[in-house]
Amino acid sequence: MMKYFFLPLLLWFTLNACNSGQQRKTYRIGFSQCTGADEWRRYMLNEMNRELTFHPNYTLLYQDAGNSTDRQISQIHSLVDEGIDLLIVSPNETSTSITQAVESVFKKGIPVVVIDRKIETESYNAYIGADNVEIGRMAGAYIGNLLNGKGRIVEVWGLPGSSPAQERHRGLREALTRYPQVQISKELNGQWEKDTARRVAAAHLSDLKAADLVFTHNDVMGLGVYEVSKAAGLDKQLRFVGIDALPGPNAGMQFINEGILTASFLYPTGGQEAIETAVRILEGKSVKRDNMLNSIQVDASNIRALKAQTDKLLAQQYDIEKQSRRIDELTRTYSTQRNTLYLTLGSLVIVLVLGAWALYLVREKQAAYRKLEKQNAEILEQKDKIEAVSKQARLATEDKLRFYSYISHEFNTPLSLILTPTEDLLTKKNVSPHELKSSLSLVQKNAHRLLRLVNQMLDLRKTDAGKLVLKASEQDIVAFARDIVQDFRRKADKQRIDLQFITARPELMVWFDGEKLDKVLFNLLSNAFKYTPKGGLIHLLLDVRDNQVMIQVQDNGEGMTPEEQAHAFDLFFSGTKPFNLGNGLGLALSREFVSLHQGYIDVQSEKGKGTTFTMLLPLGNTHLAPEEMAGTPLAHTPMALPDIEEVPKKLVPASGRKGTLLVVEDHDDLRQFLVSRLSDEYEILAEPTGEKGWERILEAVPDLIISDIMLPGLDGLQLTQRTKTDFRTSHIPVILLTAKGQMEHRIEGTRAGADAYIAKPFNTTHLIETIRTTLANREKWQRRMNTDFVSQSGNRQEKKFLNELTALIEQNLTDNSYGVEQLSRDMGLSRVQLYRKVQALLDMTITDYFAQIRLKKAKYLLKESTRTMAEIAYEAGFSSPAYFTTFFKQHTQQTPSEYRRSPSVNA
Ligand code: FRU
Repeated sequence: MMKYFFLPLLLWFTLNACNSGQQRKTYRIGFSQCTGADEWRRYMLNEMNRELTFHPNYTLLYQDAGNSTDRQISQIHSLVDEGIDLLIVSPNETSTSITQAVESVFKKGIPVVVIDRKIETESYNAYIGADNVEIGRMAGAYIGNLLNGKGRIVEVWGLPGSSPAQERHRGLREALTRYPQVQISKELNGQWEKDTARRVAAAHLSDLKAADLVFTHNDVMGLGVYEVSKAAGLDKQLRFVGIDALPGPNAGMQFINEGILTASFLYPTGGQEAIETAVRILEGKSVKRDNMLNSIQVDASNIRALKAQTDKLLAQQYDIEKQSRRIDELTRTYSTQRNTLYLTLGSLVIVLVLGAWALYLVREKQAAYRKLEKQNAEILEQKDKIEAVSKQARLATEDKLRFYSYISHEFNTPLSLILTPTEDLLTKKNVSPHELKSSLSLVQKNAHRLLRLVNQMLDLRKTDAGKLVLKASEQDIVAFARDIVQDFRRKADKQRIDLQFITARPELMVWFDGEKLDKVLFNLLSNAFKYTPKGGLIHLLLDVRDNQVMIQVQDNGEGMTPEEQAHAFDLFFSGTKPFNLGNGLGLALSREFVSLHQGYIDVQSEKGKGTTFTMLLPLGNTHLAPEEMAGTPLAHTPMALPDIEEVPKKLVPASGRKGTLLVVEDHDDLRQFLVSRLSDEYEILAEPTGEKGWERILEAVPDLIISDIMLPGLDGLQLTQRTKTDFRTSHIPVILLTAKGQMEHRIEGTRAGADAYIAKPFNTTHLIETIRTTLANREKWQRRMNTDFVSQSGNRQEKKFLNELTALIEQNLTDNSYGVEQLSRDMGLSRVQLYRKVQALLDMTITDYFAQIRLKKAKYLLKESTRTMAEIAYEAGFSSPAYFTTFFKQHTQQTPSEYRRSPSVNA
């Protein structure tokens, strides 16, 4: 991470290093100036700065002492402290103290350049200045000549302690020696300053008055004295000569041009030369120790030319300075822009690096995210797998449970049919031979059935374990199939079923396992018989198609729904139909057997039209392994299809029977057994399905219903519920019969409104006892209902029925023509239904009930009204008062009049 921040910094330093490599070493030049207050010193500084523009690696540290020697000394020391590389000094005075200060600098190894004024030491590297003695001489010679060798001079000195003042004076004196009549009449101290000069001049006006000429050590003092003289009116008498002849405004050349000064002598500042010398020293080059600058005389004779020249020069210098400033500005701008560029570049690099870093992080994140997603997907996949496995396990468990439940159901019915007749025979004292034979054949048939079930289960177990092996041999399949069909002949005749074996082939040799194919065909035919009604047809067709033998078992029975068809061969399918051997174990096993033959079995069916099972077996034996052809031809042994006498559905009621019972049971044997066992005591009606049972209930209104729970289509629970919620039938008690002993079925049965519940295999005595108790309970209830027709608590449907019935009868009591016919129509019932219902609820006929209500009304009117007998008879619906009296006496053992008179009677 850190490297991304160091990288731009590194770049930054590299760029700067390259840049400074191109730059030269920088120097600091200290400049101690005695004063900066006048034009001449300003001019000197300008020259220096101008020269420095050619040396950008030099900087000038400038100090102005303001004419103070002490200040100058301390400033020199502070410049040294600031770390200057060279000192330029223009000393205020030639004093010892300044000299010592300069010497100490020089001794520290800092080069020293002395400019203009001198010091009393050799401790400096170079001196730059004009020859002041010579300038003094030039001035003396000029004055002597100007005064034509005779006259008086007032000399105004610069600072007497400074070398130029001393040397100029000396030069003047020397030159004047040649003009003995020219005398210096007065020497005044102007200290190089205009104001000081004015002051001393004003103080010595008398000396000025007596003089012809004023010589000042510089031009500015000359101006000062001139102004004082002019004010005193001496300006016409005096002539003024100065030194410096500085160009530009307010300076010597200007004064000469204006006629203030007669002449002046050029005293160059030496600023440019001082910098040039300093640079040479610092660059290690040799310099001249004393550099004398030239002077010239400036007066009216050359002032114009000089002034023009110097003005031009100044203007040029001004331009140069301007351009230099511009260059500085540009340099600064360039430097700023360069820095900005560097900064921008640096920032750009940082941004790029950060961007790259962010990109890297995003990539990392995406990669992590992808990894996570992959892991997620894997986890989800695993979860799905686990779920699938657990679902499979759950389904397997459910299948297993369903299988157990199915097996127990399948075992219970034949067991019931073995146990029940056996118990019956054991309990009876006298058994007729016919009854004995019939019971034993029922036992035998169901024992066979159990055996078949057990064998099928063992076979299935073998297919599951992969232990079932084909033992094929070459046999005539036509004869084989014909024999099996023959076994069903008797059954078909009994049920008036058109059973046919249809084939065009007299013989067909096929490799097959006789034992297994026998089971398959037996199963398919049993199945067809199960679902084909009396008078239907069952055909077995045999033919050859595409080198395969095709066997079809067709029936025109009830057929299957598409869903039932799709699962016909599934072992545990629990679709709309409950399991049974015909379409449970048997078909599942048949498919396994056919597969062993490398054959194929399928079913086509249409609900209500019939079913066709088609089986294809390959011809020849090339498809079989040698060990699969080890079978021996098995002669078909006719299947034992025991039979018991069919019991007619409806038995003629025997006199003395205690009521009508309806048995709804799909298992033919069990149904028939129940019918035969119960018909001694009751009138028995029997139906094989819930739908048919319901039709029979509506039509016959039985006294009690015994129904199996597991019925195809409308099951026992639904039938109970339908019976108990329809007010035409709601009074009929229901006993549910089933192989299922589980609690939930009891609860379901109770919820549906069942009155009793009997688990298979059942004990006949227990069943008969339950029937008796249920009917006795019903009777008790009837009596209660009868005592007070409608007010008693009971089934809501019953109360509603009785309320409606009683209301209709009371409303129509006076209408003689209103009878049972009209009443049943008004109640939405048939006559039989009304009759049965009333009989069942109130244990009396509907006619009796009419009479009861008339009687009740009559009793009420007799007690609560003063109407005549005839009126009461009419209102209570009796055809005549005579019949009323007879009827009343018959039922109450009192005449109506006696009843009216009796003290207290319960209504
Ligand atoms: C300026 C000045 C000049 C003169 C020089 C002598 O300060 O007075 O006018 O020539 O100094 O040092």
